[in-house]
Amino acid sequence: MTDAPVLEVDDVAKTYDVSAPLLQRLFRQQQRTLLTALDGVDLELRRGEILALVGESGSGKSTLANILVGSLPATRGQVVQDGSAIPARRDKELSRRIQMVFQDPYSSLNPRLTVRAMLSELLRVHDIVPRSEVRKECLRLVSLVGLDEDALDAYPGQFSGGQRQRIAIARALAVRPDVLIADEPVSALDVSVQATILELFASLRDELGLTILFIAHNLAVVQHLCQRVAVMYLGRIVEVAGTDEIFANPRHPYTRALIASIPRMGDTSGAADLVPEGEPPSPYDLPTGCRYHPRCPFAEAQCRELDPSLRPLSESAGRVHLSACLRASDLPESP
Ligand SMILES: Nc1ncnc2c1ncn2[C@@H]1O[C@H](COP(=O)(O)OP(=O)(O)O)[C@@H](O)[C@H]1O
Ligand code: SF4
Ligand SMILES: [Mg+2]
Repeated sequence: MTDAPVLEVDDVAKTYDVSAPLLQRLFRQQQRTLLTALDGVDLELRRGEILALVGESGSGKSTLANILVGSLPATRGQVVQDGSAIPARRDKELSRRIQMVFQDPYSSLNPRLTVRAMLSELLRVHDIVPRSEVRKECLRLVSLVGLDEDALDAYPGQFSGGQRQRIAIARALAVRPDVLIADEPVSALDVSVQATILELFASLRDELGLTILFIAHNLAVVQHLCQRVAVMYLGRIVEVAGTDEIFANPRHPYTRALIASIPRMGDTSGAADLVPEGEPPSPYDLPTGCRYHPRCPFAEAQCRELDPSLRPLSESAGRVHLSACLRASDLPESP
């Protein structure tokens, strides 16, 4: 792994306009309603790493993923790839370079195309290999994701959930992207299948040197897969560190709560999906100061006034530990 960032997210914000239609608003004398999904996100993805992006549902992970692949415009900020800002309208070549794998392998594949037809079309449209090599390349792609040659002539409906996710990964890899954005790719799969798909992501990083942003709502899923972890809360990154470091020494109370919600070995109560106590505040009306203060057991008076930015705390093995907590350096052991 080198340290050069392959992708940089620079102060990216996204608000959704969720107002009623204009006429209805005039009639009811309503204002426009804006929902803040992302609010100044900064993040770096380094070549050859798997970076986890973790946060509970509604924190803005999918919004960021969609902005990264260009299917959603940012309200503010920019995405920089290999040192150049990506323009709002991406051409075919720029679109090719960042690919997405979605959570739901059922709805993300065209049920009317065989795997071979789907892959061949992509290979031709993006001119990845000469026409004479399309067959061979299709075979290479399915074996890369651990499927047999037979898979090429089947339709998505003939596969299990895990196999479909393998096909979705093969489709993303077909155009030889620099970066893969995987948006909760195992969340819809049975626990027994999840581990095999996680192994596949690890082998893709090792064999292809692929750079991956791996999104999850659960820290346990990413612990053994990712080199670094970024924690997102209500549209902001609140902590970033190497995976071992963040588990051993979390420096944001929200990260601590996420770690505490991971079930212990042998616990089959489903506690992995538990989230920190309390409901997140409304994204229509974000709290003043630190946006975690209404739920934070360590909140002090200053936390209601000051909005902490993401600041470096320490560095180990070339990985900087960043936290957006005013008390990051003096967090008590327990509340
Ligand atoms: N198309 C949309 N229109 C309006 N609000 C949206 C839209 N997509 C997402 N949101 C809202 O934006 C916030 C972030 O959502 P999302 O990015 O899907 O979070 P996550 O993937 O972390 O669950 C949530 O409050 C969600 O309700
Ligand atoms: S700044 Fe204050 S409220 Fe926010 S996470 Fe830190 S201690 Fe908690
Ligand atoms: Mg999501």
